[in-house]
Amino acid sequence: MRAKRTSLVHLIYFSRLNLSSDPQLRASQLGDITRQAQKKNEFAVITSFLIIEQNFAAQVIEGERGSIQEAFNRIAEDQRHRDVQICEWREIAKREFVHSFKTGMRNAASESLFNKANLLPMLQRGTPKASAIHALAVGLQSDAMSKQGIDHLFI
Ligand SMILES: Cc1cc2nc3c(=O)[nH]c(=O)nc-3n(C[C@H](O)[C@H](O)[C@H](O)COP(=O)(O)O)c2cc1C
Repeated sequence: MRAKRTSLVHLIYFSRLNLSSDPQLRASQLGDITRQAQKKNEFAVITSFLIIEQNFAAQVIEGERGSIQEAFNRIAEDQRHRDVQICEWREIAKREFVHSFKTGMRNAASESLFNKANLLPMLQRGTPKASAIHALAVGLQSDAMSKQGIDHLFI
């Protein structure tokens, strides 16, 4: 008999980043976050997608309920961002993200997806919809994967 799957949840939050305004320093700070978060997420079997829009962060993290709770406790205490607010926390039938920690930010390639999602005014008002964050994260992931030619594996 197949083992019963433990309960799978996703958590969507947003926050304001406390990062340097110097581009080089900011990139190295983001590199540190990525290294630490990736290692923790791999260990806890968490998959995630982090959107960075100006000085805002919005992330979807998915995994087993207890692991997500623990990871979010760490995330909420991290001094590299503030005003961490949960938008949605619910059970999901399956994972939608492939990587333990992936970041999407505005650049020439992703510009049109960011514009279409129009997340910035919602983040500035403090009222982003979980569905808008989720849809942009899924869109950025599938765009990146189709550019790598591996999208057919995930239909
Ligand atoms: C924007 C942002 C996103 C983060 N995402 C994650 C994450 O997905 N998983 C995680 O474990 N920690 C995440 N963190 C938290 C930090 O990487 C944290 O330093 C790390 O979990 C190590 O925790 P520790 O200091 O208790 O060892 C995030 C922090 C920030 C600022």
